[in-house]
Amino acid sequence: MRSPRTKSSSSKTRVVVVTPDPAFEQVVQDTFAAAPQVELELMSGSVAEHAEAITAADATVVVVDLHAATLDDMTSLQALVARLDGWPPVVTVTDAFDKEVMRQILKMRVADFLVKPVQPVELVRTCARVVQTPAGNEPSEAEIFSYLPAVGGAGVTTLAIQTALLLLGSGTQKTRPATCLVDLDFQHGACADYLDLEPRLDLNEIEPRPERLDRQLLEVMLSYHASGLAVIAAPSRPAEMRSFDPDTVTRLLDLVSSHFNYVVIDLPRTWFPWTDNVLLGSNRLFVVSEMTVPGIKHAKQLVTAVRERLEEGPRPQVIINRFEQRLFSTGLRRSDAEQALGEDLAATIPNDYRLVREAIDRGVPLDEVKAGNKITAELRKLIGPTTSSEKTGAEPAGKRRLSLSWARG
Ligand SMILES: Nc1ncnc2c1ncn2[C@@H]1O[C@H](COP(=O)(O)OP(=O)(O)OP(=O)(O)O)[C@@H](O)[C@H]1O
Ligand SMILES: [Mg+2]
Repeated sequence: MRSPRTKSSSSKTRVVVVTPDPAFEQVVQDTFAAAPQVELELMSGSVAEHAEAITAADATVVVVDLHAATLDDMTSLQALVARLDGWPPVVTVTDAFDKEVMRQILKMRVADFLVKPVQPVELVRTCARVVQTPAGNEPSEAEIFSYLPAVGGAGVTTLAIQTALLLLGSGTQKTRPATCLVDLDFQHGACADYLDLEPRLDLNEIEPRPERLDRQLLEVMLSYHASGLAVIAAPSRPAEMRSFDPDTVTRLLDLVSSHFNYVVIDLPRTWFPWTDNVLLGSNRLFVVSEMTVPGIKHAKQLVTAVRERLEEGPRPQVIINRFEQRLFSTGLRRSDAEQALGEDLAATIPNDYRLVREAIDRGVPLDEVKAGNKITAELRKLIGPTTSSEKTGAEPAGKRRLSLSWARG
């Protein structure tokens, strides 16, 4: 049975596919079998046959295959698109590129169209893209969360991914905020690997002519996770320690932040010429460390260094990750961290390797593995809109202190 709207999990994408073509049905089944985030409902037959069921299906996105479509089907599609009125978005699939059919489809204001043969990756990308709901057509100002490591392996990538998934799921199904995770750890980036995605960012192509970077080129360089999360990541180059022109990186982030509601950035430990700009342009800046003496010491040094360098940037806040109440190994307690870091200590995130591992392996939010877990609760408190500006000293959501363009100048 269909679950009522109130019950549908906001992190699940419900894809309803109606197709009279068994071959396409197979493609769809194979494509989404590998995507645990997607709940697939297949309707075999034509759009005219299933028009009512589609409307009632509580879909996040509807894919209509117009294989052997009759006039009746086109009329049904038109009525369906009009009835849905933009949500859920409708994607059409046709057997071939027929000018007349395309003209009719475009007039109906479908969200997108695909022409067979449809590659699985293309189908996933299209579905993920059309469910993103950027704030209107005018450029929006993103809220930017940056994660900076104080020590290696502290959990920056894990927390950045979970933050992005939480933000993505923070809307209702109808207003899922467009969220982009940006991996700036060009040397050892792991975001794409953790989410099992193909990294598509090629900075070598952008760098010689950054002015070429527009929405279209950005789209080519984005990877989409089945949850709808957009990811910008480059293939990692462990042997290559090169820096890109700060202008290239800033331009990329400027463009990203004008097309998404939320941007989450995974930063490397090394300070590059573009690091200051990224931090200046962020709304929230988290320094991630661990519960060890050197971990706390490095976090403190980093917070001080960031403050000195960026007088006007966001206030850095420390997260102690993999926190254990009983720390027999180091003998440190929370009060020790509080004493050393004072107001800069924003949160301690509990240690739960099994939970984190499973969420990473499945590419899902921690909440989906274990509802009500403490890591998500802490993260939610930290990033949520209820985080009061008095408590953290951060700007309230949506009010950016600085824009990246400003930082660049
Ligand atoms: N709260 C947690 N509890 C248990 N294990 C965790 C937690 N957070 C992260 N981990 C684990 O710690 C390891 C390192 O995490 P992650 O890759 O996110 O760190 P990182 O700071 O990005 O590392 P690097 O310096 O290599 O970029 C991973 O195996 C991850 O599963
Ligand atoms: Mg990392």
